[in-house]
Amino acid sequence: MQIQPVNSLRGTVRIPGDKSISHRAIMLGSLAHGTTEITNFLEGADCLSTIDCFRKMGIGIERTGDHILVHGKGLHGLSSPACVLDAGNSGTTTRLISGILSGSDIDCTLTGDASIQTRPMGRILTPLRQMGADISSVNGNNCAPLSIHGHRLHAIHYNSPVASAQVKSCVLLAGLFADGVTSVTEPVLSRNHSELMLRGFGAHVTSEGVTASIEPEPTLQAQKIQVPGDISSAAYFIAAGLIVPDSEILIENVGVNPTRDGILKVALAMGGDITKLNPRTVSGEPVCDLLVRSSTLHGTVVDGDLIPTLIDEIPMIAVMAAYATGTTVIRDAAELKVKETDRIMSVTTNLASMGADVTATDDGMVIHGGRPLHGASINSYLDHRIAMAFAVAALSSEGSNNIQDAEIVNISYPGFYEDLADLTR
Ligand code: S3P
Repeated sequence: MQIQPVNSLRGTVRIPGDKSISHRAIMLGSLAHGTTEITNFLEGADCLSTIDCFRKMGIGIERTGDHILVHGKGLHGLSSPACVLDAGNSGTTTRLISGILSGSDIDCTLTGDASIQTRPMGRILTPLRQMGADISSVNGNNCAPLSIHGHRLHAIHYNSPVASAQVKSCVLLAGLFADGVTSVTEPVLSRNHSELMLRGFGAHVTSEGVTASIEPEPTLQAQKIQVPGDISSAAYFIAAGLIVPDSEILIENVGVNPTRDGILKVALAMGGDITKLNPRTVSGEPVCDLLVRSSTLHGTVVDGDLIPTLIDEIPMIAVMAAYATGTTVIRDAAELKVKETDRIMSVTTNLASMGADVTATDDGMVIHGGRPLHGASINSYLDHRIAMAFAVAALSSEGSNNIQDAEIVNISYPGFYEDLADLTR
């Protein structure tokens, strides 16, 4: 897809539902008694993979108007699927479902696309096996496909070496089926949507600092869930509004959970003009509208405890840094290497091809901003966030850019290009 530079972006955008929260709503709705009603569900390919997996385990999930209805069968209501479960491109589906399957009376194989089959699953195999789970990597490489023979689990305290909400959530979900209180301590607090939603469904979950604990065998009750807009999707419009001159964008209904809002902190630190409007709470999650205006950005340092709160936004932050004056250092972010692509490689390669002064490091990158960027052929590497970050980069470059495999945005944001184009009219 060709993206041309623009002179200005103006208008209002209502971004789609949060991907992390949409996945969890389907999972917990399936394990609850009664019908869970989800509004503003993200109908991106990743969340549809989660729906598909639970349907294959006997859960009725239907769309009526603008709602998704999940007819839950209780904690022990899943049945073994007749075929392989396919998580597609979704790490969240693969890792969270593994926790549920390991504790359920289920025999199955769980796999996904070529990217999923190279992403590390050792990080969930280790704690799940400590809990006594019968889970193995079919090809013996600690990646999917995974073969799972579920049964009751032992409670553990797991000290996770990585700050990963997928690992934490996997262990907490497995803890639903354990013989005592299960807890997870992570090096830095990662997104806490699982803890909040589990509590909302009636599970006994406590959070103290970087440790979350769960009591087993709760009776989960169906809920009405309104999914807030995804700050990871808002990030593209935040960046676009700041970078493109003469712009003013109102981004409505953005989830601003403090475990997710690092992009706002970084944008403000870079000199961004962002105003939070109408703060409110939606389904237990903080939400607001964001007014973003063109700004002169300068470099910053992105590191430490901030990293888990903006891990998915780093491709967009790197592009902002290339348009900023001065140097931006991104470090402590080695996790970027095990996302849908190695995002240190995919970001720095594409930025360099547009003429940016960028150096990849072991755990991040260094960007000397302020050089004019030129049009290039952008390799999305079939990574939705690379396609979107560089579609935004293209808006202020000299000459047009071609985004290869541009439709990969459907993983998390169907309608992304249309929403962007609406702001140029
Ligand atoms: C997610 C957690 C993060 C994030 C991913 C979604 C989740 O992954 O990058 O897009 O929904 O729990 P990690 O747990 O691997 O950091």
